Amino acid sequence: MTLFSYKVNEGYSACMKLFLDTANVDQVAEIAAWGTLDGVTTNPSLVAKEGKDFKDVILKMCELVSCVSAQVTATDFEGMKKQGEEYAKWHKNVVVKVPMTTEGLKAVSYFSKKGIKTNVTLVFSVSQAMLAAKAGATIISPFIGRLDDIAEDGMGLIAEIMAVWSQHNFATEVLVASTRHPRHIVDAAMLGAHIATIPYDVFKKLPNHNLTDIGLKKFQEDWEKVSKK
Ligand code: E4P
Repeated sequence: MTLFSYKVNEGYSACMKLFLDTANVDQVAEIAAWGTLDGVTTNPSLVAKEGKDFKDVILKMCELVSCVSAQVTATDFEGMKKQGEEYAKWHKNVVVKVPMTTEGLKAVSYFSKKGIKTNVTLVFSVSQAMLAAKAGATIISPFIGRLDDIAEDGMGLIAEIMAVWSQHNFATEVLVASTRHPRHIVDAAMLGAHIATIPYDVFKKLPNHNLTDIGLKKFQEDWEKVSKK
């Protein structure tokens, strides 16, 4: 993606939030200790990979960060309603993650009226983003990496959604999901996205720069020379 091919959001937005995309509690604890982590997103694939008790994982994460997405696995409205209401009772930091389907929209609308926070996942188009926001989603999650994987323009979708958001009064936060590398996070920030969720291996790359390492080594070497005199 070429940064300047997109219209950068000119308005001031509140500080962009950084989430970790994982179902591994140790990873959340490690990154949370840096003081830069705002939340966590999980999904059924990530939970299955860890093989731990879902509720226990979500509760432990809720003690570390203030926003944890827990995804429903039901695909019909009644099933999503039952699961989502149960998850919301677990902890005040739980956000119920709902798939972008018409049954999902019904569930989001229901949860919104009940004051239960939602994150609509598997968003791949601007029309899906708008419908989810109108249904009352707290957060929407456009998946950019999966669009890039099929030779579409993931960050271009974020640019279009942010352009629509800048023209209308949607209260829903735009979470850039399926990020694959550090540049995705910078581009998402430049476009004014509210949140990016980041896999652990990508998050670990964010603080690093070769020149920082070289600079620190030189400072230490120079200091040692002086302290030996
Ligand atoms: C977000 O909530 C999703 O869990 C995640 O970003 C999906 O990423 P993937 O496309 O790398 O699986």
